[in-house]
This record gives sequence, C-alpha cells and structure tokens, in this order.
Amino acid sequence: MTGAIGAASLPLSARAPGKCIVFGEHAVVHGGPELLFAVDLTTQLFLRPGARAQLNGDPAAPERHPYFRAALAQPWAPRTPLEVQAVSRIPRGAGLGSSAAFCAAFAAGGSALGGGVDRAGLAQRSFDIERTAQGVGSPGDTSAAVAGGFLTVNAPGSGPTLWSVRDGPRTWDVRRVDDPGWVWIVAHSGIPRATGDAVRSVSARLRAPDGPELLEQFARVAREGIAAMAAGDRAAVGARMAENQQLLREVGVSHPRLEALLDAVAPNVDGAKLTGAGAGGSIVALPRPGAEVEAVRRLARAGGLPFVVRPARDGAELVGPPA
Ligand code: MEV
Repeated sequence: MTGAIGAASLPLSARAPGKCIVFGEHAVVHGGPELLFAVDLTTQLFLRPGARAQLNGDPAAPERHPYFRAALAQPWAPRTPLEVQAVSRIPRGAGLGSSAAFCAAFAAGGSALGGGVDRAGLAQRSFDIERTAQGVGSPGDTSAAVAGGFLTVNAPGSGPTLWSVRDGPRTWDVRRVDDPGWVWIVAHSGIPRATGDAVRSVSARLRAPDGPELLEQFARVAREGIAAMAAGDRAAVGARMAENQQLLREVGVSHPRLEALLDAVAPNVDGAKLTGAGAGGSIVALPRPGAEVEAVRRLARAGGLPFVVRPARDGAELVGPPA
C-alpha cells in the first residue's frame, strides 16, 4: 500500500492506479458489499507553481473540468495556483477508475503541499473530490486508488479494516483482502459513459417495488463471490460473476457492445461481467490459465480494446519532482 504521504514542496509529482470491480458495483452505492482491486494502469500528475491554475495547459479547466474544479474547491486544497499536467494510461470513461486515480493523485500531491496526510485521511480526501464532482457514488473506486491491491467495501468479516469513509451521515468500511494471484483481462467496449448518470438511473430502477429484492440478490452474490475468492475457487468466482452480470442486466446497465464482448470471450474464461458503472465502458474476465492470449485475441476481434491486468501493489504515492 505504502505509508502516509509526507510533506513536500513544488514542483512535485504524484501517481495513483485505476481499479477494476469484480463484484458489487452500483449495489455498493446503496450499502451492498463490493470486491475490487487496483490495476497496474496509473495516472501521474505533475504539479508546478503557475500564474494561474490550469490542467494540461487549459486555463479554463478550473471551471470546465469537473474533477479538477472539485479538487481545487476542497478546504485542504493548496491556495497557490497550480499548473497540473496529467499523464494517464487508464482509458477515460471506461469504468477503470481514471477519475478516481486523478482524485487520489491530486489528493496525494495537494496533501503533501499542506504538510502530509495519513492513508485514511487520503482515502477520505480522494473520495470527497470524486463525490463533489459526480454528486453521487461510493468510496470504493477512490479507496482502491489509495490502497492498491484487493479490497472490499461493506463486507464485514472479509479482512482487516483499512479505514472508514464518511459521506454525511453514511459510513463505508473498507477492508484489505488477499490477492489470489490470478491474471485478469479487462476490455474496453469503446462506448464512453458517465458514472453519475448510470448511478442515478440504477438508483431510480431500485426504487421500483422489486428494488429491495434485487439489492438482496446483489448482496448475496457479492458475499458468495468474496468467500469464493478467499477460498481460491475459480469456478465459484466465475459462476458468481455470471450471476452478477445478470443482475446488472436487470437494472439496465449492460449494453449490446458489452454483451458482444462477453459472448466472444466466453469459451476462454471461468467468468466475465461488465465492470464499473456499465452502460458502455468495460468488461472484466477471468481467463482460464493458458487461455489468456486466445481470450485477448477474441476480445480484439470482437472490437474491444483488451488489457491483461495485474493488481497494482501500491496505492497513491509521491514519485519525486518532475525531470
Ligand atoms: C463505478 O466505478 C462504480 C459504481 O458503483 C459507482 C460508485 O460506487 O461510486 C457504479
């Protein structure tokens, strides 16, 4: 994970990983359990003093870029005008945590300028930026960007508590769980989507009379999936991924392009489902050992942008001054 963020001065650089949700997206916003991991694709920010705040050379970004605007509005944000350069390997709008990585990297850099912060404080600050920008959501994505590795949210007993994140009267407990050491594939459909819109539409769907029953199904599937992963049972994890995908279809966030990718990769995997907010974005697949290359080929032939991903060991961190 790496420890507290220490004090630093400008210029500085900070980076944070993206994430991949295995179980429980959307339901986590309503208190359900979630399992996710930080992926080895990162966003790196370079912070320098400037005449006025800007992002990637755009002086309108403090008004126009929702996450940059939200970051600058935080009570702990540096008052010095910052020129920020962002370099990211995480596709944007792909459900892979590009915005969470931006928030966590900014929170790490901005907190260093304010004298430093511990990991729990960094998780809270990163979530506060994302929550301000999106207006809705859970702290799962930003916690993965801060913690690295595998973690659960709202899953009592799954592992040691890392921290609790607050949103007004609500609290989410974030726990560390073991990496089973498997190889994962994510594939971007190329259809961009907005997390906030998807979260609002699922929330509306869950207000229907069968909403509580659906939420209970999401929770059961995630709990069983978390237990199956702890037991190293790939077949059971795959079966729960299929059940989770069916529930995500029922709440309206699958997409024909995601379904095409799931169909294409089915012969080579133990399990696959959409990952993140859906309605576009990406799928995550657990390829059978030895079938990784064929799975990637099939996904590319079906029009996806596949990546083989491993869990990122480290969460958000300072990486020294820019060259
Ligand atoms: C988005 O990556 C995950 C959602 O559950 C939203 C959230 O938890 O903030 C859809």
